[in-house]
Amino acid sequence: MAKIVTKERLSEQVVRMTVVSPRIARKRKAGQFVVLIINEQGERIPLTIVDSDPEIGTLTIIFQEVGKSTMHLGALNEGDEIAHVVGPLGRPTYIENFGTAVCVGGGVGIAALYPITHALHDAGNRVISIIGARNKDLLMLEDEMGAVSDELLICTDDGSYGPQGFVTSLLSEVVERKEKIKIVVAVGPVPMMHAVAELTRPYGINTVVSLNSIMLDGTGMCGTCRCEVGGKTRFVCVEGPEFDGHEVDFDGLAKRQKAYLEAEKKAVLRYSCGVTGEG
Ligand SMILES: Cc1cc2nc3c(=O)[nH]c(=O)nc-3n(C[C@H](O)[C@H](O)[C@H](O)COP(=O)(O)OP(=O)(O)OC[C@H]3O[C@@H](n4cnc5c(N)ncnc54)[C@H](O)[C@@H]3O)c2cc1C
Ligand code: FES
Repeated sequence: MAKIVTKERLSEQVVRMTVVSPRIARKRKAGQFVVLIINEQGERIPLTIVDSDPEIGTLTIIFQEVGKSTMHLGALNEGDEIAHVVGPLGRPTYIENFGTAVCVGGGVGIAALYPITHALHDAGNRVISIIGARNKDLLMLEDEMGAVSDELLICTDDGSYGPQGFVTSLLSEVVERKEKIKIVVAVGPVPMMHAVAELTRPYGINTVVSLNSIMLDGTGMCGTCRCEVGGKTRFVCVEGPEFDGHEVDFDGLAKRQKAYLEAEKKAVLRYSCGVTGEG
């Protein structure tokens, strides 16, 4: 059992929680995630470890309520308990002092980008961060990203904060500068990561993306999270979640993410009608 210590709503559908899990808090590295199971009947929810406090023994997660399980998680309160928190899972981000690193985050992907940005900054990189959201209310972690970036650029799809446009417009301006960029890290919706990878490809800039494939067991056994990378089948839960963006089959990934759409819609309907016991 893992107790929820704090809960804060960052926007209508996005919640930040800190959860007691001392062992994971001590071990976790940037880029890794946990799998939560709310109760014994619950399904598994993979969520990035956004931050941790090894002294107190807590983890921070930030999640968007997109379906039954994340809605159920968002309905829990401080003092409630989560049945299982498994992790840290996935390979940690490869961090070194590359020189100049550009970190690009979209929507709730900014939550997963934050620990990577933090680690790149701590390793001595000059970090240029670009974050964007559909509108000002959905933009998250501006202060936190600013604190671990040498330069922070912000845009929104509707122009309600910063220039109107996608993060790729700002990235395009940054790559056109004279400064040599050694690595771009992108986390966000699949079409956004795809667009970033296509933008950097002609410049030959090493581009890392963090894939949010649908997961089931999280152990490399079931194959649900499989994805084509460089023409080979890779399991995101154990071989990822980060891969070379220039090698990922984004069209295949987008198709697999829609595979359970009908079942997911029914699950939300049942949940909204008050059938909460399934997790
Ligand atoms: C390694 C990893 C780290 C993640 N980190 C975070 C995080 O820090 N914060 C966060 O909000 N989410 C994160 N996700 C996505 C999160 O796991 C899903 O949103 C969640 O499992 C959805 O569960 P659900 O039952 O609420 O929705 P479902 O009913 O399963 O799905 C509802 C809708 O969300 C889409 N969806 C389902 N699973 C995913 C997914 N994995 N990625 C994208 N769309 C999905 C479905 O296609 C559907 O449209 C991460 C996923 C992975 C694989
Ligand atoms: S989630 Fe089952 S193999 Fe990755």
